Amino acid sequence: SSFVHQLADEHLSDAELLADPAEKIAKVGGTRHPSIPLPIDLFGADRRNSTGIDLQDPPLLEEVVKTVSKLPFTPGKAVAPDVGAAVERAQAAFPAWAATPVDERAACLERLADLLEAQRGELMAIAVQEAKKTIPDALGEVREAVDFCRYYAARARDGLMPIELPGPTGERNVLRMEGKGVWATIAPWNFPLAIFLGQTVAALVAGNTVIAKPAPQTPAIAGWAVGLAQEAGIPDDALILLPGGPEVGAAIVADPRVAGIAFTGSTATAKKIARSLLDDDARPLVPLIAETGGINAMIVDSTALPEQVVQDVVTSAFRSAGQRCSALRVLLLQEEIAERTLEMLSGAMDSLIVGDPADPRTDVGPVIDGSAFTRLMDYRQTMRAHWVKTVDAPTEGFFVPPTVIRLNDLSELNQEWFGPLLHVATWKAGELEETVARVNAKGFGLTMGLHSRIARAAETVEALSRVGNLYVNRSMIGAIVGSQPFGGEGLSGTGPKAGGPHYLHRFTAERVTSTDT
Ligand code: NAD
Ligand code: ALA
Repeated sequence: SSFVHQLADEHLSDAELLADPAEKIAKVGGTRHPSIPLPIDLFGADRRNSTGIDLQDPPLLEEVVKTVSKLPFTPGKAVAPDVGAAVERAQAAFPAWAATPVDERAACLERLADLLEAQRGELMAIAVQEAKKTIPDALGEVREAVDFCRYYAARARDGLMPIELPGPTGERNVLRMEGKGVWATIAPWNFPLAIFLGQTVAALVAGNTVIAKPAPQTPAIAGWAVGLAQEAGIPDDALILLPGGPEVGAAIVADPRVAGIAFTGSTATAKKIARSLLDDDARPLVPLIAETGGINAMIVDSTALPEQVVQDVVTSAFRSAGQRCSALRVLLLQEEIAERTLEMLSGAMDSLIVGDPADPRTDVGPVIDGSAFTRLMDYRQTMRAHWVKTVDAPTEGFFVPPTVIRLNDLSELNQEWFGPLLHVATWKAGELEETVARVNAKGFGLTMGLHSRIARAAETVEALSRVGNLYVNRSMIGAIVGSQPFGGEGLSGTGPKAGGPHYLHRFTAERVTSTDT
């Protein structure tokens, strides 16, 4: 498999962990997690109608739901009052959690990291089954969740302690960073553990209580993670899991007691949330952290190393079936090398294995669900005349064949296609600046790649590009917590960057007391 050997993940050489994934998945389906506080009414009999939840895997979810030890809500209630009750409980839990010393809150995150590591096999299995992740991706996901917990714990111990500031007239000045109240964290399905937990533990360690809403496609892994958070010492009502679809998300956002929102998902949803926060004139001004999508480009000039380019393109565009916000969407080749590069890319794509995500050899699994599949396949079909390359994929299931589509001009691409579809266009020697400007003009600003051996080219792209993460002579996915803080600008997000040194502060109220001595 072309991806597996590239991964620096030590787990991939762990024979026991990788032995018989099918058996592990079956085991998770039948294992009871001791404490998963799901509001069971959201999974009630009429679940599709009341919440819009289109369950990916009813048997697994039924099993998770059966394990519920505490039922905070009465089955059968409507969605909106349940959201209100959850916010009320999180609000009641806030004073005690906010008063818990930062060190203790950080210690909860560290214990959670240990539990996640100890259960990485189970979590991997749920991610494969529920989110259809390949095994390398599922393990990477657990690794990232662990990293978020440890990193934010360390940043909190360092960065959230009160700071003594100079007192020019002899006064004492102290800056404190404290929780704001109840935060809502709203997550996408494509990182159902890492992003779901990353946002949530950041809000918690900063002293907030949290209503956490996973994507409707991936509630089980979120439920499992919340169970582990409780085992790690986070009080039940300090973290309340509220699964459901857009209606549940909208009801949480609309609750005026919610003091901040951390959202990761599409740009369209981020805009809806931003609008909703302004609807109620009486509501306090509420911070919104939004991390969204991108039309991410890689620019390749004639000095680039072709083999490296091809390997990085395959990884960036097709790994995770292209379902990463960071993924490469449009490859911009200097005219002189375009045909040769496409020929080599085409050869490399022939060795991609598209298939069962539970098979460790698989490179590209299915896309998340039927509606994503239909949307991507319809678009791919309308571009039939422009295909440069496509590969074989199973016809049963939601497998979108990795496909390269030629554009005459970048203006033909105006939305993020969230799947294994790569666009390609060319640019003329001497037009590097204009090429970057054309990418910027799309308005997104998440990731960009450059392959070039001219130092000046890298300086130019660094100076002119307007993206959060620029990758030079390497692949464009898989940002590492603490080393490659992640997140974009423009239509791609508000910042601050996840896994970066400034993230936690946005979750706090900064307060200064000045005392004359
Ligand atoms: P989505 O916007 O459809 O859903 C994201 C979450 O928002 C889900 O939990 C959903 O239920 C909820 N939601 C939907 N409507 C809502 C509303 N009106 N109010 C409140 N909540 C609402 O996105 P998705 O399809 O789950 O995820 C894919 C998208 O996420 C892609 O665009 C991708 O680029 C983006 N993404 C961005 C990052 C990043 O860090 N920048 C990371 C991962 C994914
Ligand atoms: N942080 C994820 C990546 O870099 C989205 O691929």
